[in-house]
Amino acid sequence: MALLKIARMGHPVLTEAARPVADPGAPEIRRLVADMLETMDDAGGTGLAAPQVHVGLRLFVFMVQPHRLSGLEGDETVPRTVLINPELEAIGDDMQLCWEGCLSIPGLRAVVPRHLRIRYRGVDCDGNRIEREAAGFHADVVQHEFDHLNGILYPMRVVDFTRFGFSEELTRAEQAREGAEA
Ligand code: NI
Repeated sequence: MALLKIARMGHPVLTEAARPVADPGAPEIRRLVADMLETMDDAGGTGLAAPQVHVGLRLFVFMVQPHRLSGLEGDETVPRTVLINPELEAIGDDMQLCWEGCLSIPGLRAVVPRHLRIRYRGVDCDGNRIEREAAGFHADVVQHEFDHLNGILYPMRVVDFTRFGFSEELTRAEQAREGAEA
């Protein structure tokens, strides 16, 4: 296994549509997935899409850890998972506002509107079909990673630019506000 180099915003691979994976069980796809999982863990991310490692294919890895959960039904922990050739649809019209960052845009974060509930489908490297309903953070991370396959980065979805900035500054501002209220 190997750590992969992460593409940063500005690299064309991040704004191009990715191509379907012809053979999800192919050895090179299994190797790519193993390397992406290792790279995600090493970088401390919760998701990583193939275009972020300079591979224009429709697959991503992700996980949902317990401390991320919103308490909504469908927002549940997910072990490290690969989703190949995914499809995604919204369930209903409810939206949520999510704080997001991206390994391709280090140091920044923003609030982004996302569907509250979604359904997604895909396959893994063994050809198992994965079909799940998701809500809250689980739905957010899957929408973020799915966007990467269509060349969309989260800043393209920002509506309120007063809540887009450097993580460090935003945290400082939050602490100052909390201090003022205390
Ligand atoms: Ni990202």
